[in-house]
Amino acid sequence: MDIARTPATPDGNPEMADAAVAPKDFVSIRREDYMPFPWLVPQVAMDFALGLDETRVVTTLTVERNPAAEASKTIRLNGDEIVPVEVTVDGEGWSDWCMDGDDLLVTLPGAAHTIAVTTHIAPAANTKLMGLYASDGMLCTQCEAEGFRRIAFFPDRPDVLSTYRVRMSGDREAFPVLLCNGNLEAEGEDGEAHWAEWHDPWPKPSYLFALVAGQLVANSDSFTTMGGREVALNIWVRDGDLPRTGHAMESLKKSMKWDEEVFGREYDLDLFNIVAVSDFNMGAMENKGLNVFNTKYVLADEETATDGDFDGIEAVIAHEYFHNWSGNRVTCRDWFQLSLKEGFTVLRDQLFSQDMGSAPVKRIEDVRILRGVQFPEDSGPLAHPIRPDSYQEISNFYTSTIYNKGAEVIRMMRTMAGPERFRAGTDLYFERHDGEAATCEDFVRAMEDGAGLDLKQFRLWYAQAGTPKVTARLEHSGDTATLHLSQHVPATPGQPDKKPMPIPLKLALYDRDSRERGAEQLVVLDGEELTLGYPGFATRPVLSINRGFSAPIVVEREVSSDELVFLATHDDDPFARYEALQELVVRHLKAGASGTLSAEARQEGELAVADAMAAVLADSDLDDLMRGELLLLPSETYVAETMERADPAVIHAERQGLRASLARALETEFLALYERAAAVPFAMSAEAKGARKVKTQALAYLAAAFPDRAAEMAFAQYASADNMTDRQGALMVLTGLDVVERTNALIDFYNRYQGNALVIDKWFALQASSMHPHCLEHVRALADHRDFTLKNPNRVRSLYMAFAANPHAFHAADGEGYRMIADLILALDPINPQTASRFVPPLGRWRRIEPGRSALMKAQLERLAAADLSRDTAEQVSRSLG
Ligand code: PHE
Ligand code: ZN
Repeated sequence: MDIARTPATPDGNPEMADAAVAPKDFVSIRREDYMPFPWLVPQVAMDFALGLDETRVVTTLTVERNPAAEASKTIRLNGDEIVPVEVTVDGEGWSDWCMDGDDLLVTLPGAAHTIAVTTHIAPAANTKLMGLYASDGMLCTQCEAEGFRRIAFFPDRPDVLSTYRVRMSGDREAFPVLLCNGNLEAEGEDGEAHWAEWHDPWPKPSYLFALVAGQLVANSDSFTTMGGREVALNIWVRDGDLPRTGHAMESLKKSMKWDEEVFGREYDLDLFNIVAVSDFNMGAMENKGLNVFNTKYVLADEETATDGDFDGIEAVIAHEYFHNWSGNRVTCRDWFQLSLKEGFTVLRDQLFSQDMGSAPVKRIEDVRILRGVQFPEDSGPLAHPIRPDSYQEISNFYTSTIYNKGAEVIRMMRTMAGPERFRAGTDLYFERHDGEAATCEDFVRAMEDGAGLDLKQFRLWYAQAGTPKVTARLEHSGDTATLHLSQHVPATPGQPDKKPMPIPLKLALYDRDSRERGAEQLVVLDGEELTLGYPGFATRPVLSINRGFSAPIVVEREVSSDELVFLATHDDDPFARYEALQELVVRHLKAGASGTLSAEARQEGELAVADAMAAVLADSDLDDLMRGELLLLPSETYVAETMERADPAVIHAERQGLRASLARALETEFLALYERAAAVPFAMSAEAKGARKVKTQALAYLAAAFPDRAAEMAFAQYASADNMTDRQGALMVLTGLDVVERTNALIDFYNRYQGNALVIDKWFALQASSMHPHCLEHVRALADHRDFTLKNPNRVRSLYMAFAANPHAFHAADGEGYRMIADLILALDPINPQTASRFVPPLGRWRRIEPGRSALMKAQLERLAAADLSRDTAEQVSRSLG
């Protein structure tokens, strides 16, 4: 039963009555309605009798009136698809309770009581993967954001903090390993069964609860903290997967050390467990002392994982570990504050990865994600501030805006304060709010007091959605250059009028002739306009702006192609250099897509790009990892995002055309690069990783102009590969070509890795994201493959998310791609609404696509709107149409 569809009971609250008036409208929760919970729940005791088909849970809560809240005689315990089998208060059978929708309301006579409620759960039937569920024969939980209420009746909100004592018992053979948060305090045998008792000394909200039971083996190690505490570390996996856990363990130890050194944060238990599960809605989860991970972010070896996979594991292990302080020790008051933990923790994991590898390359990758995913979100119907004002289903707000823009907002504070003062700010934040459920406002105040920043106007970054656009115009006369800056924050749903925001811009001016750079300056543009004068330039200098991507904005600058080529070749800020090259290419592609480009102008544009690329290929000061970034053409999605309304087919044709023309112009150079890189033996060093990156890129370029020769080279690379990066790269190139080697390699790859789910995911994803003209037909056929299932989110994403992110296939002119995604949503929604709703945003782009396709996209959204949908999917569909 769906909570918001239940008609209000006579004693129901007003929210429920609203739902009854308009049964199709789900209730909106508003940030301004926050009220502290009337009851404290200092202690929770749980007793689990484990079984895959049925698990019985007795949950005992000690409750007392919250002196900081308005008193209430009843306590509302949230539930979701569970029923109270038995209710006792202070040990006595109790009848003074009723149901309000899925919630249990218990009336209590006094100020302090003990409430015990028994529930029965069916984990094997739980396909939503929220609450307690079965995965590969093991039992595991996922509680964030509101999954705990699918296990036990509880005030399931992050500002209710409790210490947990958990007893679990189950069959020894089915569940030899029994894990929970905190420390193992006792265990024992009981015939065929055994039991374990866990205690977590740190008060936590219910969303951080976790329990795992199953046949697992551990990679065990230890870490000694700066305070001398020895922490036992375990990474729990399926028996055969143990050899693929080494990288995750190394990443964990590096994370623990780094957080001590850079943020002064020490781990606070004697035990840290990580469990890998193959059915998981997200990447991983930071449950206290018991992180649960998608296998994708744990398992890796060179034979089955790419360099990108290795980096992803390092980043996610760090992210979840860092949550122990930014999220767990200091948690969120309510879900509107989600970016308090997520934005901050993403920034922390980004800084960590910058320190572990190439900082400039990591920065460019992070900006690419932001611009590829968050910018479109911010300019579409689902735009929301990093601290939203309302939601219907919180699962829909685990967005790139909350995570990635949230990280950028905190990064701007760091840029303005400098690393030392920023650290003083975070120290103060942790000190002030340790053990509390805090707000974004608390964080900003700690930054003001600790880092010495004035953030009065800066708070707008929390309140206003939309990506600011900064226009930069440089004038030159006499010996003075004058820079005119102005900003505009676009209207977003519910926010028609915006105020100017403080935008920290790192900038510098280059002397054109000497190529010398003036001092780098940090300018905060905080009004609508700002004018800055720079004397001492006999000739017009070249402006380098938003260096290091100091602000998450769009820059529109008046700059000649010539100046862009100058920056692309000479700028000493790696991001600015990358940016100049991207801008040069985007400009060229847009001009081509506009249909007004003369043959000569096109040739001229291609020549300018080829010159800049030639410089990148020839520059011996560049390492290959950075070279690989510079060689990457801007994505079709990014190009589309710069246009009012895009024609995806035209952008695709232009981009492929440019790729082919570059390959023809630089054939010798790409071949030489390929040869050089192919001679580098396998290693995990930056040099070898860089070589692998540029090798496959050279191949991809060559494939655009010389498909037959490239196919031969790719097949050879495929067949002789001694690692997954090379093998997948070669297969990626082949999959996009209409050649016999394509089929042979795909068959070989499948046979070689059959049974390894993560690698078979790659096999699906490669075909769904391919440049092949028949990609859509391939996806349709793969949906009927015996290895395809809607029950496993990784598999669903590997086929359909890859497809929805592949513009030339998804945007098939007849609308077939849109229909396939709508069909998927309808089929998946009853099984796993959280994953289904994630497929709505691609259709939600309809207003930004050319009219013909736009109408077809909208028609599919309307088709969805007419169906009986989950709250998750219904919210995204109605916002997308609204
Ligand atoms: N809190 C998790 C993270 O960011 C993400 C997550 C959200 C996982 C909801 C599961 C469910 O690390
Ligand atoms: Zn997180």
